[in-house]
Amino acid sequence: MRRALVAANWKMNLDLPQMRAWVAAARAELTGTLAVDVVVCPPFPYLFPMAKALAECAIRLGAQDAYHETSGAFTGEVSAVMVRETGAAYVILGHSERRHTIGHLEDDRMVNLKLRAVQSVGMTPILCVGETLAQRKASQTLDVLSFQLSAGLSGVRVSSGEQLVIAYEPVWAIGTGLNATAAQAQEAHAHLRAELTRLIGREPAAQVRIIYGGSLKPENANELMGQADVDGGLVGGASLKAETFTRIVRVVSQSG
Ligand code: PGA
Repeated sequence: MRRALVAANWKMNLDLPQMRAWVAAARAELTGTLAVDVVVCPPFPYLFPMAKALAECAIRLGAQDAYHETSGAFTGEVSAVMVRETGAAYVILGHSERRHTIGHLEDDRMVNLKLRAVQSVGMTPILCVGETLAQRKASQTLDVLSFQLSAGLSGVRVSSGEQLVIAYEPVWAIGTGLNATAAQAQEAHAHLRAELTRLIGREPAAQVRIIYGGSLKPENANELMGQADVDGGLVGGASLKAETFTRIVRVVSQSG
C-alpha cells in the first residue's frame, strides 16, 4: 500500500508574509494524523525561512529545482548540496515550465544529471513527465512518457519507494483549468508503473508514488485520486491558498 503524497508547487508566487500566513493556516487545518505526506515547494530564497516556519510540523519542505554540479563557476545556479542544507527533503525536477520555457529548455540529459545529484545527497526527486497537446493528438503520449522516464532515470538505481516520486503532468493541463480525465490519468500512471517495473524492478516500482499534476482542484481531486495508480498530486495554482490546498489534501487523505 502506497502512502499518498501531495505537494504544493508555488512556482514564482507569494511573498514571505504570505508564505508564513499560509503555513499558519495549513497547520491549523491539517491537525490530527493524516494518511498523506504533504510537501511545500517555495522559490529558492524562501527555503530557509520556510524550513523555520515548518519546524515541528508534518509538512515537509521541497525545492523547485537543483543544479547538478556540486560547486564552481555556475552563476545563478543552486546545487543539490545547497538545497539540502536548507532542510529540503524533495526536489521537483523536469517540470514542463523548465523543459519548455525559453531561457531554460532543459533536456532529458540535464534532468537526469540533476536527478542523480539530488539522489546522491539523499533528497527525493519528484521527476515530472508529460506530453504536450500536439503529442497527445498525435497519439504519442505513452511513447513520450516512456522516453522521458527512461532518460530521466538513466543510470539511476532505486531500491525503495522513498527514493523517487514521479509526477505525471500533461503539459496541456498545467495552469489551463483543463485536467486529465480519471481514465486518461490512470492510463498514463499505469503505463509509467509498467515502465518503472522494467527500469527499476517490480518491488521498488510498486512502492514509488506516481502523483498527478495539472489543474488539480478540490472539485476534481476525488475522481482522480480514486484511480489505482494515482498516488497523490502536484498542485500549482490551487496550492497558493492554504484553504484550497488543504481541501485537496483532505480529499486525497480520505480516498486512500
Ligand atoms: P497547476 O500546476 O495546478 O496550476 O495546473 C501544476 C504544476 O505545474 O505542477
